[in-house]
Amino acid sequence: MSADLRPSGPFRYGDRVQLTGPKGRLHTVTLREGGELHTHHGVLRHENIVDQPDGSVVTNSGGHEYLALRPLLRDFVMSMPRGAAIVYPKDAAQILTAADIFPGATVVEAGVGSGALSLWLLRAIGDAGRLLSFERREEFSQVAEANVETFLGHYPAAWQVVVGDLVEQLPQVVEPGSVDRVVLDMLAPWECIDAVAEALTPGGVVLCYIATATQLSRVAEYIRGTGLFTESEATETMVRGWHVEGLSVRPDHRMVAHTGFLLTARRLAPGAVPPDVRKRALKKPTYADEDVEQWTPGAVGDRQITDKNLRKRVRDAQRAAEGARRAAGESTGDAVN
Ligand SMILES: C[S@@+](CC[C@H](N)C(=O)[O-])C[C@H]1O[C@@H](n2cnc3c(N)ncnc32)[C@H](O)[C@@H]1O
Repeated sequence: MSADLRPSGPFRYGDRVQLTGPKGRLHTVTLREGGELHTHHGVLRHENIVDQPDGSVVTNSGGHEYLALRPLLRDFVMSMPRGAAIVYPKDAAQILTAADIFPGATVVEAGVGSGALSLWLLRAIGDAGRLLSFERREEFSQVAEANVETFLGHYPAAWQVVVGDLVEQLPQVVEPGSVDRVVLDMLAPWECIDAVAEALTPGGVVLCYIATATQLSRVAEYIRGTGLFTESEATETMVRGWHVEGLSVRPDHRMVAHTGFLLTARRLAPGAVPPDVRKRALKKPTYADEDVEQWTPGAVGDRQITDKNLRKRVRDAQRAAEGARRAAGESTGDAVN
């Protein structure tokens, strides 16, 4: 594992720190020279956190204690600036397994959104892998790139972000049959399946992450209709937290009940027809063009961010990345421009 993926050592300026204060309240701060966290419990100076080991307890001006920890990747993705909705950690974990992401793999991802899934994929492919992330909205790609840089402290060499539509850009960027894994997190993944089939190596995996059952059905039927993939498999992942304290051991009262479905299928070798498909004649997808036009962000309950808000998220994310770059420069003694 490279050094940047193993965040450890005493806190430095530019680090993000998760502070758990009185009554378990969480604050995430980026350590800055002269920086202070003001709450109604008092003032906590960043200089009192710098040089302390990860996991230290620090005290503010009012005598209140805060537990200081570097955020884990799952904490970071939940608190980082967002342009588009992110893949939650519970789904990211399943995606890595279901799509069989491995060290050294060439992986294509679209869209990149806020970069949450990109961070998990980069971690799984390692320095020897290659992640090509496609995003059609430039501002989203800027948020994602800044988030990835903030977390890793630099722009990873294994990563390339391509701004544009996957269907148009994928054939320009990769050779046919050269991609090991493709992960699609977008409203209409069926629009990309033909391009994905062309890019995937025989035996390669395509995984679609979709929010609604109607989208799940549409993409499964499209994949089946191509005759180029194995039968797809669909799952959803429910993670229920437990309260474990003394004799009070029970499931939490609240949980994230639904995020999305995962659908996977494998690319067949050219001309291969699996035995079960030969027996069962291929059915045409049961969706008319008018049905397809119904899948708008509003119709599937996807709330869109305003342009003004998105520009603010870009600025927030880029400011955090700048802090991380400065901290990385300070720790290696390199000058940061
Ligand atoms: C839900 S977000 C992705 C979130 C991301 N996986 C994450 O974890 O942060 C979906 C993104 O897909 C992008 N998108 C949709 N269709 C696309 C296409 N055909 N090509 C490239 N990007 C696309 C959208 O602009 C949007 O940013």
